[in-house]
Amino acid sequence: MELKITCIPGDGIGPEIIGEAKKVLDKVAVKYGHVMNYTDVLMGGASIDVHGVPLTDEAIETAKAADAVLMGSIGGDTTKSPWYQLPPHLRPEAGLLKIRKALNLFANLRPAVLYEELAGACPLKEEISAAGFDMMIMRELTGGLYFGERKTIEENGVRKAIDTLTYDENEIRRIAIKGFDIAMKRRKKVTSVDKANVLDSSRLWRNVVIEVAKDYPEVTLEHMLVDNCAMQLVKDPAQFDVILTENMFGDILSDEASMVTGSIGMLASASLNDTKFGLYEPSHGSAPDIAGQNIANPIATILSAAMMLRYTFDLDKEAESIENAVKQVLKDGYRTGDIMSEGCTKVSCSQMGDLLVERI
Ligand code: IPM
Ligand code: MG
Repeated sequence: MELKITCIPGDGIGPEIIGEAKKVLDKVAVKYGHVMNYTDVLMGGASIDVHGVPLTDEAIETAKAADAVLMGSIGGDTTKSPWYQLPPHLRPEAGLLKIRKALNLFANLRPAVLYEELAGACPLKEEISAAGFDMMIMRELTGGLYFGERKTIEENGVRKAIDTLTYDENEIRRIAIKGFDIAMKRRKKVTSVDKANVLDSSRLWRNVVIEVAKDYPEVTLEHMLVDNCAMQLVKDPAQFDVILTENMFGDILSDEASMVTGSIGMLASASLNDTKFGLYEPSHGSAPDIAGQNIANPIATILSAAMMLRYTFDLDKEAESIENAVKQVLKDGYRTGDIMSEGCTKVSCSQMGDLLVERI
């Protein structure tokens, strides 16, 4: 089949890791008889430098015309880059928020897995990490605080900033349904995370999740307050299967979960709407400090490409071939700098890409 993919290399290490992901996808295409049709567009700082805005309408149209978007990373050093002297709506991150909204990508899937070969990188005590863990954080991505009305005003000489957190029941229901659907394909447990002891939006969240759960009698549902969840993630991560939560809680908890794996350079993500369309990107950022040195870990992006094959194109076998290549390369002892440990062979970003291509 022909796969129409819009690529957003973005900023920092983005272009390097997208280059490696394309290499791997091209090998999959040859092996399984597909055609990869890529169109590159600019987003983030790269777009600001050329167009003066972090995302143009043309770029959105190009993305919409494709089956899926594969993204590297966007943004720069917030203390040094001139992009952060611009008004907030013109900064790199505004491009990312805009594309999520424009493509209605309300469901963000962020798997956090402890790889056996990388268990040594897990910062938790061995008695905790020994149990292993494999969770999927389902983050609502187009509502809540990040998209509510915001303003900064001055009242009686005092500056005051206001952000609004709103959810309607439909926004909650559609992400909850996705969360339960995914749980059905996993270990059939959903932990819905909220702050229902304080927030109205969380109380509505909890009620709607309980309603949705009625259609999934096989799935065990539990509710957890977000502050407790932050603790449980380091105390007993093995208890989690699907964590279902709103936008800001998901932003924070997914960073925590990825850190707990000890290998954020390995973690993929998918952002989906209610069709097969999706935007796939690594869970990590643009790492401007190591950009252009060919030392970044491309595996998270390559695993995001595998998620793309599975969720958008229903190419499970092809997705597995990538995932197996990653496992094999780790078994064979190859590591990029971020996951390097004694006795392994340190390789560059492009060498890692080549090693994976060889194993597909
Ligand atoms: C993420 C990032 C973004 C977010 C930023 C860059 C706007 O932190 O994808 O988690 O908060 O959603
Ligand atoms: Mg984040």
